[in-house]
Amino acid sequence: MAEAAAQKKIEKLRQDLRRHEHLYFVLDAPEIPDAEYDKLMKELRKLEAAHPELASSDSPTQRVGGKPAEGFRKAQHSRPMLSLDNAYSAEELADWDRRVHELAGSLPVEYTAELKLDGLSVALTYESAHGGARLAVGLTRGDGQTGEDVTSNIRTIRSIPLSVSAEDLKKAGVPRGFEVRGEVVMPAAAFLKMNEEREREGLPAFVNPRNSAAGTLRTLDSSIVARRRLVFFAYFLLVDGEYFAAGQTATLDTLTGLGFRVNSHRERVKNVGQMMKFIENAEKNRTTLGYEIDGVVLKVDAHTTQQRLGYTGRAPRWAIAFKFTARSAISKLEDILITVGRTGKLTPTAMLAPVFIGGVTVSRATLHNADFISGLGLKIGDYVKVERGGDVIPKIVEVVSDKDHPRGTRDFIFPSQCPECGSRVVRAEGEADWRCVNVDCPAKLRESLLHFASRGVMNIEGLGDAAVQQLLDRKLVQSVADLYSLTEEQLVDLERFAEKSARTLLAEIKKSKSAGLARVLMGLGIRFVGERTAELLAEEFGSIEALMAASAEELERVEEVGPRISQAILEFFADKENRHLVKRLEKAGVDMTAEKKQRSTELAGLTFVLTGTLPNLTRDEAKLKIEAAGGKTAGSVSKKTSYVVAGEEAGSKLDKARELKIPVIGEEGLLAMLAGKPAPK
Ligand code: IVH
Repeated sequence: MAEAAAQKKIEKLRQDLRRHEHLYFVLDAPEIPDAEYDKLMKELRKLEAAHPELASSDSPTQRVGGKPAEGFRKAQHSRPMLSLDNAYSAEELADWDRRVHELAGSLPVEYTAELKLDGLSVALTYESAHGGARLAVGLTRGDGQTGEDVTSNIRTIRSIPLSVSAEDLKKAGVPRGFEVRGEVVMPAAAFLKMNEEREREGLPAFVNPRNSAAGTLRTLDSSIVARRRLVFFAYFLLVDGEYFAAGQTATLDTLTGLGFRVNSHRERVKNVGQMMKFIENAEKNRTTLGYEIDGVVLKVDAHTTQQRLGYTGRAPRWAIAFKFTARSAISKLEDILITVGRTGKLTPTAMLAPVFIGGVTVSRATLHNADFISGLGLKIGDYVKVERGGDVIPKIVEVVSDKDHPRGTRDFIFPSQCPECGSRVVRAEGEADWRCVNVDCPAKLRESLLHFASRGVMNIEGLGDAAVQQLLDRKLVQSVADLYSLTEEQLVDLERFAEKSARTLLAEIKKSKSAGLARVLMGLGIRFVGERTAELLAEEFGSIEALMAASAEELERVEEVGPRISQAILEFFADKENRHLVKRLEKAGVDMTAEKKQRSTELAGLTFVLTGTLPNLTRDEAKLKIEAAGGKTAGSVSKKTSYVVAGEEAGSKLDKARELKIPVIGEEGLLAMLAGKPAPK
């Protein structure tokens, strides 16, 4: 065949094959039988073999790479791939919805509900080529900052287009190269088939489709990956590292237009009621989908609102994962293990015969404390019902006793001595926990150090179990503050530490100095002070001095801080040793400041009275908004009232306002004022 004719024929075949791939793998609506598709593919292969000069990396024949790769290169993400906060109940969703509305102010709040696909997220970069775009790199999520370059495996996933035509780009309004993020899942059928094969070959079975999808993507031989039939669902589109399109709904539509597979189970929802309806439906239908889901993801739709809401350290505030609740199984309690935490608390853990529950193998469950164990009447050897909800730690809900499940025989006696140091353990009045009395208990220090260094706290990479144990064994650290005076000489002396790793760890420790006040507060391990509380405290007080000087009342002005938390904070800083620790951290150069939140003052000095039913806001919501903007609310109209906010069926308060000539506004007027606009006349 002449060169020009061959080129034309090849182009035509590629285009046809791409269209059929799209119909089959993305739209689930094939137009031709498989055999016919195979025939076209064979024809293309033959032509390409005869004309190697016409080869192209985005040809449908080029999905499977030749030789196995040697290993995966690491690469940085264009912007971090974050995780999601979880909710497990309608109440938790309502809390989130309320916070979203509060933070969004007058910006629009509507949500997109999507399925939470139980796979692994990947980021696909498409580079401009010949007016269109071509798949250049596919990365796993990795640690969220850097992922592994698994492009050769990604290319075998047939629902991922290898290229996007100039025409489709133009239609979608995408100006140049772009990035698509989404979830790779293994369909249930492929999972079962794969495990059957593995069993036949004497290989261990994968525990669940997610693990096998993850394992598959990291397989070095892309021809194996191709056989596993992974599927990709797209949910984010980025251009120059920024979210493209006006919102999540528009994003999903644009992705569809670009030829990506977008999960069809999605909906725009406006309130918690509608969210719950979508969730109930999803849960009801989850077994008919053909792939695993573990919940529903709710995302604030508008990108402007998303931007206003921003991010916490690990997750966007504008999205949340609703996790389906508990599934259970019966297992045998083989033993009870006691560990000592950083507060000296003794925690019992159930060691179970491994069982498969809702997608994972469970062999441990928390038993909380001695009361929990006696409450259940647990004996070693008992059969127990184990429940797992979302990714929360599995728990034992009851002892099972019938003819197939005889009772255990060995009583469990809670230790009266610390299993780590042998000291006495005590239980404070009214508390459930036993604690080791030894202030120098090695377990306390070890756990404090591990907590301090952990991800999401001071984030000192490389300071894990093994390193911490060595530092303790050699008495190089007696408190977290000692980390900051470690030297290279001390570290190279440790096992498995060379000059380079010593230097890396020191650099990590140094870097942690600028983690900021919220992280330090978490790191100190004050009871009840988790990520969100620490952030709110940091924003409110701006420095550790200001926080340490705060009274209970001042502390409780912070959202989410009640008497229990304020008491814990006061007690913590009342302790001389803790104050000394703070001083030492400060001296070591650890940054203990934060940017103070600017209080809104739009409504400062104004008093509002709410009456009647507003079209959108509930009375509580309106009240919260007014107070958040520095205004006050009152229950009755007087001369001191600045504005009356009236909705439908406003009664006597409205009359009184007219009588006293107090200006009356509606919800719209209030929202305008909240947004800093002048009061309506
Ligand atoms: S949005 C920063 N949407 O869930 C936003 N994630 O628990 C996070 N996931 O790492 C991604 N289905 O792997 C989003 N429709 C969906 C999802 C989804 C599954 C996964 C994703 C993410 C994890 C967070």
